[in-house]
Amino acid sequence: MANFFCVLILIICLQLRDAFSENLTYLSVSDWWEKAGFYQIYPRSYKDSNGDGIGDLNGITEKLPYLKSIGVKAFWLSPIYPSPMADFGYDISDFRGIQPEYGTMADFAAMVAKKNELGLKLILDFVPNHSSDEHEWFIKSEQKVSGYEDYYVWHDGTPGSDPTRNDPPNNWVEAFRGSAWKWSDKRKQYYLHQFHYKQPDLNYRNPTVVTEMKNVLTFWLDQGVDGFRIDAVPCMFEDENFPNEPPSGNSDDPLRPEYLNHIYTQDLPETVDMVYQWRELLDNYKKQKGGDTRVLMTEAWSSLDIVSTYFQDQNKRQGSQMPFNFQLIMRLDQNSKAADFKTVIDSWIKTVPSGHVPNWVLGNHDKRRVASRMGGEHMADLMEMVELSLPGVSVTYQGEEIGMTDYELTWADTKDPAACQTSSTDYQKYTRDPARTPFHWNTTSMAGFTMGTSTWLPINPIYTTVNVETELNTDKSHIKVFKRLMELRDKDEFHTVSYGTDTLGESVFAILRSGPVLHKSRVYVTLVNIANKDATVNVQNVFKKFEIEPVDKLYVEVASVSSGRSEGDSIKTDSLLLLPYEGLVLRSTAVTLILSKLLVLIAIIKAFLFQ
Ligand code: GLC
Repeated sequence: MANFFCVLILIICLQLRDAFSENLTYLSVSDWWEKAGFYQIYPRSYKDSNGDGIGDLNGITEKLPYLKSIGVKAFWLSPIYPSPMADFGYDISDFRGIQPEYGTMADFAAMVAKKNELGLKLILDFVPNHSSDEHEWFIKSEQKVSGYEDYYVWHDGTPGSDPTRNDPPNNWVEAFRGSAWKWSDKRKQYYLHQFHYKQPDLNYRNPTVVTEMKNVLTFWLDQGVDGFRIDAVPCMFEDENFPNEPPSGNSDDPLRPEYLNHIYTQDLPETVDMVYQWRELLDNYKKQKGGDTRVLMTEAWSSLDIVSTYFQDQNKRQGSQMPFNFQLIMRLDQNSKAADFKTVIDSWIKTVPSGHVPNWVLGNHDKRRVASRMGGEHMADLMEMVELSLPGVSVTYQGEEIGMTDYELTWADTKDPAACQTSSTDYQKYTRDPARTPFHWNTTSMAGFTMGTSTWLPINPIYTTVNVETELNTDKSHIKVFKRLMELRDKDEFHTVSYGTDTLGESVFAILRSGPVLHKSRVYVTLVNIANKDATVNVQNVFKKFEIEPVDKLYVEVASVSSGRSEGDSIKTDSLLLLPYEGLVLRSTAVTLILSKLLVLIAIIKAFLFQ
């Protein structure tokens, strides 16, 4: 009998262990950003307040209550600084000002005041790798003004057949196509530009440049921003000996960036270290000035082993809190199967070092929109369900919440340098404009984007049905699905739980989240049928996989627009018919779970008593 009680106590402890340990885990990871929904705004295309057809700061400020209403906690702005717009703001001619088309520093201050009033956080794009060639530093550097000679990466080039001018130093190419070196007639040297020739690379081997750029961060922190999205992080440092890069075998065109393996121009150890230095700056700022944690989000389209180093090094020196997870963009498309979703998501979860938080990005201003990449508007809800059912930080690109799709522009309308540097026959492969068209607020002729008569990029004609106002006034819509998902993920019982992924056949992908019983939590199961045909699944298999006692019934918490089901509907778990492209977030009741745990205990006690 003594044996029996020992075993019984052990079992009870095991049953309850999760509850206590997950509670503790939750308490230690409760910083504001760790489960926040972030939202990217492309300022030129969000909301125009003065009728010039170009979005601006006052337009954004006017729409901050909208962000709040859809559950967003933080928004990041693509660059708003003075710029000749060769790369639409990523070519900055003054790191401390505002582009006049977008507004003034006073408008910026008004935006900060409004976001504070609403309890939102503001993240600015920090573009450290390059400035505009119209920046005062470059103008002085080109003229060799004392102190500025080494602000940029200058090189004599190598002797070639032309007696009047050397050849470029090596085979490096810029991201938009063509040599990464531009000859300066003034200075009689080449300068490096890893992007457009109007974006000369700053020289991070010059300590003065490092200090200058740190001062830029402090300047904006002093204006009240809550963190930075760091642009083109991998490109900061280059090999000092400027060796040729080896071909990758991925292209036949030696002028395309994918032609080379960028082993001497990207992700150098010095680059990673610079991110750690910026993190230190942000942490020290908080120590000195107080307030909430300031965050870093970093952009690197690098391999997972490299991306993980941007979180921290082997000695746990801290870097970016959110090295962007681009896996859902890079590795999923309309041909993906449920198993691909699982592989891609699990590989990212494994990449995130312990003690860090995963983040999920579905799209941004550089890529085709998620709905289009995945096959069309019908996939919008499903991708949101996947993203917002996963633990950690979500990053939404403007328009994803209403199911915006790409708009294919004509060559004549094309503005993006990545496309303009190609040709009228292949620009569509490279253009980033389709995801940058103006946001759709309502059904008025300019989609509510501007009161003017023209817009800087054409408006996608789908705005008549895909827009905020119409969707808010419709029973079932993408924005309503999005809002429900955001509300749900904000709840602790949904968020601070363990999770796992599974597949049910070829086309149904599942995410399971199970909370500790004593935390009054439930089990949530997200199911998305990514095929254009019905699928009948046994959800109990997911429970079994994660060793959770199966429940007979689950209740619909969120249903995709394509679903015939409504919130609160009950479904039988052993045989669930999912329609083509149907997505559901289902929940158990807390009581069901407690009961099922008790039933297991009773069964075990009975087994011992009557053995
Ligand atoms: C980043 C930006 C992109 C820009 C490039 C150069 O990749 O997201 O839009 O063109 O950096 O700044």
